[in-house]
Amino acid sequence: MTSAAISTSASSVDPVTATTPAASRPQIRVRKMGFDFSGVPRHWFFGNAWATHVANGLNLVFPEGERFFIRSVKHYLPEIADDPELLERCRAFFGQEGSHGHEHEGAFRVLESQGFDIQTWLQWYERAAFGKVEQRFPPNIRLAATAALEHLTATLAEQGLLSSELDNAYPVMRDLLRWHACEEIEHKSVAFDVLKKVDDRYWVRVSGMVLGLAGMLYFWRSAAKMLLKQEGITRAQAKRERAAAKARGQNRNYLWRGFVEYLRPSFHPDDHDNYGLAKAYLQKIGRFEG
Ligand SMILES: [Fe+2]
Ligand SMILES: [Fe+2]
Repeated sequence: MTSAAISTSASSVDPVTATTPAASRPQIRVRKMGFDFSGVPRHWFFGNAWATHVANGLNLVFPEGERFFIRSVKHYLPEIADDPELLERCRAFFGQEGSHGHEHEGAFRVLESQGFDIQTWLQWYERAAFGKVEQRFPPNIRLAATAALEHLTATLAEQGLLSSELDNAYPVMRDLLRWHACEEIEHKSVAFDVLKKVDDRYWVRVSGMVLGLAGMLYFWRSAAKMLLKQEGITRAQAKRERAAAKARGQNRNYLWRGFVEYLRPSFHPDDHDNYGLAKAYLQKIGRFEG
């Protein structure tokens, strides 16, 4: 990892190695943010078209993906009715994911104002991922994919908070991604705990990871390629920009780390304590309510 963008001194735990007891999990808060995306430049990620559209591609897959997470967990609410604490965490999780979708859709308008046709891709994505693929799998696998993707987004979130990469982004995009990162960390264990309660089989959990990771990488890559193509970036140019981004330390190795970690039979998202990171950032922006 690169230099720490967020001081972890606010937390007494080592964010990489410590284990969090369930009792020290922060309360999941739904925060209304209302980001103003006017003025976001075309290449808002250090002037690099490749890095910008990879990040824009992730923005495009988030809202529908997060609505899928909500549906997958909601399906099992009757089965966890005997656990009021978990029910409460689920409701807060729905609130956070709903507001992430809303804020990310605000960033969609920026792309449209810059002349990108994103609706055609979004309609295809919705039909392919949620009209076809989602319907082919039973509810337990959908929930397992959600639990796995929540772990991967929390891993991505940690990267976004620990590394200085996002310091090079246009301020409102950096703020959007870091706020989202904090809330992903806050609710990272909710879907996993629901899965553990309703279907604790290892093969179900791992199948969800394989399906979720493959789906995420496929649609994320497709969105980024669509944007680069509309911008008229040739393969050679994209390669050059990609090399420049990598030279600055950009990579997605952390996804691999998250994948491997998840395979451990005794894995639980709280084994890896990074709640202090989220708390430190939220305190810094005055949005940590305890
Ligand atoms: Fe989210
Ligand atoms: Fe999430």
